This record gives sequence, C-alpha cells and structure tokens, in this order.
Amino acid sequence: MNIHKIDSNYPMELLLLADPSEELVEAYLDRGQCYIAKDSDETIGVYVLLSVDDDTIELKNIAVHERYQGRGLGKELVLHAIERSMELGYKIIEVGTGNSSLNQLALYQKCGFRIVSVDRDFFTNHYSEEIVENGIPCVDMIRLEKRLSTGGR
Ligand code: COA
Repeated sequence: MNIHKIDSNYPMELLLLADPSEELVEAYLDRGQCYIAKDSDETIGVYVLLSVDDDTIELKNIAVHERYQGRGLGKELVLHAIERSMELGYKIIEVGTGNSSLNQLALYQKCGFRIVSVDRDFFTNHYSEEIVENGIPCVDMIRLEKRLSTGGR
C-alpha cells in the first residue's frame, strides 16, 4: 500500500464520507496535511492531520473507500497518522467521533487512543439534520487522544 502526502486534487468524495460538510472539509484542508492511500491508480483511503498547537495535532478526517472497508486499511491509516505525528514532533494526537460511531470508537481505541472528554450536544448544535448510526442518535462528540512522547497510554 502506497500512502503519501498530497497538496492538491483532494479526494473530496472520500473526505465527505467522514464529514458531510464540504465547507468544513475545505477549511481544514487549507490548513492541514492530507495523505492518501493508493491501490494502483485508485485512491482508496485518506486522512487529514491538522495542527492544534505546538504539542498537539488532530486527526481530522479518515475515510476508506466503501469497497475496501473492513480489510485493515483504516487501521493502517490511523497507525500511519500516529507515526507521522511522532515524526513531526507532536506529543499528542487527538481525534473526535460521534457517540454512535461504534466501529470508529473501536478502531481508535485499538490503535491506543483513550477517551478524554465529551463535547455534549456537539452534533445537535452543529448539524441541522438528525444523524442516527447503529440505531443510536448521534448527539455528543467523544474526544480521544493518544500521547506520543512516551509512546504510551
Ligand atoms: N467492535 C470491535 N472492533 C471493531 C468494530 C467493532 N464494532 N468495528 C471495527 N472494529 C475494529 C476492526 O476489528 C479492526 O481492528 P483489528 O484489525 O484489530 O481487528 C479496526 O476496528 C478497524 O478495521 P479496518 O478494517 O482497518 O477499518 P476500515 O478499513 O473499514 O476503516 C473507517 C474504518 C472508519 C475509516 C471506515 O469504515 C470509513 O471510511 N468509514 C466512513 C468514514 C468515517 O466514519 N470516518 C471516521 C470519522 S470519525
């Protein structure tokens, strides 16, 4: 799998799988670093890293093409993002996901992230459409982080 950084021609369709707001995606692409995974000529995965401050970087968007989901690529991308953040000298990588995003919560925790806070009513306050996943209304943002400096948890 070839994972590399790009600075243009962002795979918007993939990015919108993780965040339905094109406006927000474009705003953080402007300030962030976008990495893609390619299989032959096809872009099959993407993630975006966005610096929060000198010590902290956020995994802002991660998505795998529907046809390729469930085969370990998402985990490979998260581990790549962690590695990259360490190389860039950050001490903490953080990520946020919905309370109803059970698979994503599993993925991040399997990669060493721990829950640090809950942004209550984040989704009800920021999205006009009701979001339901796994039969659960998505209302709160669960924030997770992984400490990189000690390589530990
Ligand atoms: N319970 C336990 N473990 C679970 C799980 C569950 N319900 N759902 C997923 N996992 C685990 C898998 O077992 C795997 O871990 P393992 O390799 O140790 O077994 C890991 O989570 C991830 O699986 P993987 O195949 O690497 O994920 P993926 O390639 O399907 O990618 C996403 C995951 C989230 C990136 C992908 O589903 C996607 O693009 N979704 C749409 C966009 C999105 O929601 N992005 C995140 C926004 S917060």
